[in-house]
Amino acid sequence: MAARPYIVGNWKMNGTRAMLSQARAIDRAAQNMMKVEVALAPPFTLLHAVHREVEQIGVGAQDCHPGADGACTGDVSATMVADAGAKFVIIGHSERRRDHGESDELVARKGVAALQAGMRLILCVGETEETRDDGQAEAFVTAQLKASLPATLESPAESLTVAYEPVWAIGTGRTPTVEDIGAMHGAIRAVLVDLYGAEEATQVRILYGGSVNADNARELLSAKEVGGALVGGASLTAESFLGIVVAAAEPVES
Ligand code: PGA
Repeated sequence: MAARPYIVGNWKMNGTRAMLSQARAIDRAAQNMMKVEVALAPPFTLLHAVHREVEQIGVGAQDCHPGADGACTGDVSATMVADAGAKFVIIGHSERRRDHGESDELVARKGVAALQAGMRLILCVGETEETRDDGQAEAFVTAQLKASLPATLESPAESLTVAYEPVWAIGTGRTPTVEDIGAMHGAIRAVLVDLYGAEEATQVRILYGGSVNADNARELLSAKEVGGALVGGASLTAESFLGIVVAAAEPVES
């Protein structure tokens, strides 16, 4: 695993102000686990409040609109989330791709907007179960990655994290084998090296996401080329999330 693992909690459509105490508890614990970079992506409505509550952990948004401003009812721009305290944006999550019909091209434009607003990106990619069963998982994910990367990405080492999240593993309790994760992360790394050169590409962290919990984190994080985890369900309480952070602080030697 990379020198400093990155563990990111994606709260999805969960959380009212009552959950700020969880963010505080996560932040306090993270101050004693500096070996791990910890971050949370709360819903838009809590972004500013979480940003104000925490001192150590990173705070990011789960999405942004590609446009700067204007007549887009219900949408939130990259500048707005940055203004609310976001330092990164998750783009291309499979729930956005599935539920909002987001194409690779739209994801790439969101990335351009987020970079322009001075934020880092967590770009999600992942195959469906059908695609994996067809033996097309690596071909699909590498093509999705290439098509979703923003054209204006100049310094991936500074601005890019990739999250490999097989769609069939999200929220299901099922996970790929350590070998399958290692193989996919290797394929993702190869794309990045090809596009950006080895020096930049090797510094990009590639997270695994999909049913990560405190019990399986050590094993999943031991897979080759895994630089951390993007965590949904298990990030909703400080107790379960911190179990993963502790696992990342003391990984199994791979
Ligand atoms: P999960 O979600 O941990 O609940 O499977 C992961 C994600 O969608 O980022």
